[in-house]
Amino acid sequence: MAHPSPDPDDVGPAVASLETIVSLAKRRGFVYPSSEIYGGINAVWDYGPLGVELKNNVKRAWWRAMVQERNDVVGLDAGILMHPQVWITSGHVGSFSDPLVECATDHRRFRLDELPGAEHLSATELRDPAIVEKLGLVCPVDGGPLSAPRRFNLMFKTFMGPVEEDAAIVYLRPETAQGSYVNFKNVQQSSRKKLPFGIAQIGKSFRNEISPGNFVFRMREFEQMEMQYFVKPAEAAAIFEDWLPRRFGWYTKYGVTESRLRFREHAPDELAHYAKKAVDVEYRFPFGWKELEGIHNRGDFDLSRHQEASGENLEYFDPATEEHFIPFIVETAGGADRAAFTFLIDAYREEEVRGEKRVVLGLHPELAPYKVAVLPLLKKRPEIVELCHKLRADLAFDTMAVYDDTAAIGKLYRRQDEIGTPWCVTVDVDSLEDGAVTVRDRDSMAQDRVPVENVKRLILDRLAAARAAGGES
Ligand code: GAP
Repeated sequence: MAHPSPDPDDVGPAVASLETIVSLAKRRGFVYPSSEIYGGINAVWDYGPLGVELKNNVKRAWWRAMVQERNDVVGLDAGILMHPQVWITSGHVGSFSDPLVECATDHRRFRLDELPGAEHLSATELRDPAIVEKLGLVCPVDGGPLSAPRRFNLMFKTFMGPVEEDAAIVYLRPETAQGSYVNFKNVQQSSRKKLPFGIAQIGKSFRNEISPGNFVFRMREFEQMEMQYFVKPAEAAAIFEDWLPRRFGWYTKYGVTESRLRFREHAPDELAHYAKKAVDVEYRFPFGWKELEGIHNRGDFDLSRHQEASGENLEYFDPATEEHFIPFIVETAGGADRAAFTFLIDAYREEEVRGEKRVVLGLHPELAPYKVAVLPLLKKRPEIVELCHKLRADLAFDTMAVYDDTAAIGKLYRRQDEIGTPWCVTVDVDSLEDGAVTVRDRDSMAQDRVPVENVKRLILDRLAAARAAGGES
């Protein structure tokens, strides 16, 4: 593998507790429980004013790396609802399931591999009908006896059209990938791409997870960022290896601490039915090492199956060798919510400054919800406030800028630190005389006096420098 994996036991999580992040997220408007005034709905979360900015920035950074900066990958936005046959052909209707056990006394249901004592079972052991009995597993809530495991399908169903009958059943997609497979011919022919080339998609997916949780880590409605790379069969193994460091590097480029990332290869009995090889990029979350993104060599399974079931010829014609063949697919499959969550966790730090606690979200400037805050030193002076508004409006033409005057300057700085704003610009009494303002850096807290007409250029140059650091994604 191209990248060394650190010893998992050496690395602590970025934050001591998940509660710290959940509380910050709610208080500052990153993420709220969905439908909270009705008591919430399990496993769905709403992104608030700062969260939507963060997640949009994550998606933009991904699109930049996977589409904009590459000549060999194009975008697609396929429907969430698809012909139901897609999901039968793909194997999801038959086998997209997790092992479920039920407590005989309180009827709570659990995912077998998340029960205490069963977390490290192999895929073969998880399929063993006698495993609960063999390990003496009991309900973690009331200690009651558990049923033998059965497979629970994760597909959400609904009806299309005005009649609720079996013939009208459609599924909410559980992955974006199938939209790229069924559009392979459309995209290849309309964009005249030659192998190898990729189709990238960002969009909502839905899974009726047995045990969602850990905040936005596992939800029932979530967003994926997936890229399907179509390749010649003989080249698939090498191209797969190339994508590993590239995807790992995307997370570190945008600020994730390298020692809290590792690769984990799937064991043969754990591989999905379609996969020839699969490697996860994992992150050291406060609740342990977990998957952030999967990179899969799917062979020719997807296009062969869709060709067979649809009757459409999905072969590629290679003009150089005059051969017709079904391409192999190398997939990079990540989650926008999980990535945003990871950037948030990894950016969080607490420091002591002059005897006081300072909470900083050291987000990469490209990911920060606001790039710059414009703050008045004295909000009672109308000329200062007016200059602030003028400056903010000018900055906002090119980037996310915010004005705040709801506290004294020290507190305003702390609030911006806590939401990750990389730069603050303060307008004071002297500004009215000398036309200069103070630009404060979030991380170093260094303050530079800058002529007001140079502020925008300075901020945009710093943003461009941050984007360029670490090279192409
Ligand atoms: N097309 C392949 C595929 O969907 P996956 O490993 O099942 O592979 C890819 O999903 C990524 O989608 C995961 O690595 C994760 O980041 C995200 N994801 C999957 N299920 C999720 C859930 N219930 N909540 C949030 N993100 C999820």
